[in-house]
Amino acid sequence: PEPLRDAAARHGRTVGVALSPGHLSQPGYAAIAEREFSLVVAENAMKWDATEPSRGQFSWSQADQVADFATRHDTELYGHTLVWHSQLPGWVDGISDPADLRDAMTDHVAAVAGRYAGQVDAWDVVNEMWDEDGTRRDSVFQRVLGDGYIAEALHAARAADPQADLCLNDYNIEGINAKSNAMYDLVADLKADGVPVDCVGLQAHLIGGQVPSTLQANLQRFADLGVDVRLTELDIRVPVPASAASLTQQAADYRAVTEACLAVERCTGITVWGVDDGHSWVPDVFPGQGAALLWDASYQPKPAYTAFAAAWGAD
Ligand code: G3I
Repeated sequence: PEPLRDAAARHGRTVGVALSPGHLSQPGYAAIAEREFSLVVAENAMKWDATEPSRGQFSWSQADQVADFATRHDTELYGHTLVWHSQLPGWVDGISDPADLRDAMTDHVAAVAGRYAGQVDAWDVVNEMWDEDGTRRDSVFQRVLGDGYIAEALHAARAADPQADLCLNDYNIEGINAKSNAMYDLVADLKADGVPVDCVGLQAHLIGGQVPSTLQANLQRFADLGVDVRLTELDIRVPVPASAASLTQQAADYRAVTEACLAVERCTGITVWGVDDGHSWVPDVFPGQGAALLWDASYQPKPAYTAFAAAWGAD
């Protein structure tokens, strides 16, 4: 079929992929990334540990490779992520003085969002701020700066890049539950307070056969707050080695997720969290599970790819 990006464009949406620039030297990986997608996001290269490993010492080579890919292949560039408790260098985790941490955070946001200003279409400004019960997740930012760190980060991002859409991103907020309710209430409060927030990212690291039945309703309620929504890190893991039945179920799941997004006007699209099953975070973190993406480890399209392409209306 035609490239996913062309089918998605007819809906006014984008299909994205998380890229690791080191893998682009593999021809199969590069060929799929170049052909199929209309948005790229750095899987790791724009995170704090990659961009500012020591205070004030920035390292851009990996991140620039992702930005250059976007320019060369005429895709959108999605920024991931400015403020997050994970992949955070030790020097940040060790700061206990609020004024000092505030400076570190705003300097980091200014430098990273500033470097890619005019190129990044949307930033995950804050990533993974919630625990499953809808209380704030512990992090150095939460502990030292308190609840207001999210608004501070959003203001800093707006100042650094006035054009980029500013998103809040988390996982397990795809259905209506305590965690997505907390995100919903936060976005409503931020909007009421005039804090710049433009979008909510729902990561969508899903399990085969378990697409939340409330996905579409949840996307719609965020959209009704006046923000865009996006499935930002979609993958659907199954037990490995994958059975034919589980791959068939997975294909149906990819289709269902796409239909939910397409049913919501403010759903800007879907990003898959990697090209192929050979380059996925899932087996490292969930032993015995994997095969979560659209192409297998030999770069062959899976039933999930066929169903996903069909759901987008690819000719
Ligand atoms: O770069 C080092 C390398 O030098 C070292 O030799 C190697 C040995 O372990 O580790 C390499 O770093 C790894 C890095 O990926 C790059 O491959 C880290 O150990 C590993 O933890 C890291 O995992 C990433 C993970 O975020 C970290 O939290 C995954 O690739 C990435 O897919 C994953 O992405 C996250 C999103 O950012 C946020 N949402 C959840 C999602 C999945 O966990």
